[in-house]
Amino acid sequence: MLPYFPFGHRFNDKMGTAPVSESDRLLEIDPLYSSEIGLKRQLLAELPTYYFQALSGYESAQWEALEWMLHKLAEAYPEQFSLTKQGNQWHWVNRILAEETTFRYGNENSLPNAPLDWVGRQVQEDVLLLSGQEGRLVAGLLCFANDWSLDEKIGLPFWQIHAPINPIVEPMMRSAGAFMQRLPAGKSFWRANWSVKVSNQLDRSTRHLPILTQQLNDRLPQLTIDTIGDLLYLRVERQTLTRLPKSGVILFTIHTYQSRLADEAADPNRAARMVQVFSTTPPAMIDYKSMTHFLPALLNYLRDKARAINVNPLS
Ligand code: HEM
Repeated sequence: MLPYFPFGHRFNDKMGTAPVSESDRLLEIDPLYSSEIGLKRQLLAELPTYYFQALSGYESAQWEALEWMLHKLAEAYPEQFSLTKQGNQWHWVNRILAEETTFRYGNENSLPNAPLDWVGRQVQEDVLLLSGQEGRLVAGLLCFANDWSLDEKIGLPFWQIHAPINPIVEPMMRSAGAFMQRLPAGKSFWRANWSVKVSNQLDRSTRHLPILTQQLNDRLPQLTIDTIGDLLYLRVERQTLTRLPKSGVILFTIHTYQSRLADEAADPNRAARMVQVFSTTPPAMIDYKSMTHFLPALLNYLRDKARAINVNPLS
C-alpha cells in the first residue's frame, strides 16, 4: 500500500504543502532502497550527463546539500548510516550497502562524483537545487523523472519549468511561486503529487517518451473493468522543499512511490476516495495526466470496489 495517499473528497486545486514535522523524515528509506539505488547507479553509469547536471557557481550549495542530507539521514536512521567528522575530514558509513567513504568536506577531488551527484546516490529521492528569487533550477540528480528531464529544465526559473501552465492550476502555481520565495531557511515542507500509469517503470525520463506512449496506446484496448486493476499503477511523489541556511538555495527532493491499482482499491475507502478525485478532476488535467482514454473503465472499476463500504461516490 502507498504510504502517502493524496486523495481526499474531490480534486484539489491547492498546492497542498505542509511542514515536515519533527517526527517526520526529510529523506525516507523503504524496502526498495537497495534495488532503487542499484538502478540509479546503473542509469548514472550509462548516461551520467543525462541524469546529473549542475551549473557552475553552485559548488558550495552542492556541498551544503550534501551536508544537510547526510545529517538528516544519520539522524533518522542511526542504525543504517553514520557520519563522523575530524575537522574537514568526514567519514560516512552506509551499512545497508556495506560502504564507507572518507572525504574532505569542500574538496571535490576527494569524492568520485560532484557532491550532489554523490549524495544523490545514497538516497532513493531525486534531488534538485533551485536558486534565487525566481527559483532557477541550478543542479539536479534526476533518475526517476515523471515525464521530464534535466536537459529540458536546467537553468529555467520555477515558472518556466512548469510552462505551459494549465489555466486550471495557474492560481496554484502562482501561490507556489510566492511560497518558494518566502520559504524560511532550515524548515522543510512537503507535498504529494499523483498520477496513474500503465507501467511501474521508475525512470520515465523524456528519452523514454516514445516507447512509453506506444506502451500506453498498446495497452488501452486491454483496459477493461476486469483487467484494469492489475494493469494500472498509482504513482505518488512525496516532494520536499528546504531552503538551505548558508547558500539560500532550495533543496527539492522527490521520492517516488508506486503501487498496483488493485492493491490500493482492495481498500474500499481508498477506492471511494479515488472515485471522488478522478471524477472531479477537470478534463484538461485528466488529459495532461494521459488518463482520458481509460478514465471511464477506471471509474467503473473503482465504483465497483467502493461499493463494499456503501460509500456513495460522486457519479
Ligand atoms: C509547491 C511547489 C510545487 C507545486 C505546487 C507544483 C505543482 C505542479 C503541478 C500542479 C504540476 C502539473 C500537474 C500535476 O502533475 O499534478 C507540476 C508538474 C511539474 N513540476 Fe511542479 N510543483 C512544485 C514544485 C516544483 C519544483 C520545485 C520543481 C523543480 C524542478 C517542479 C518541477 C515540475 C516539473 C518538471 C513538472 C512537469 C512539467 C511538465 O509537464 O513539463 N515542481 N508541478
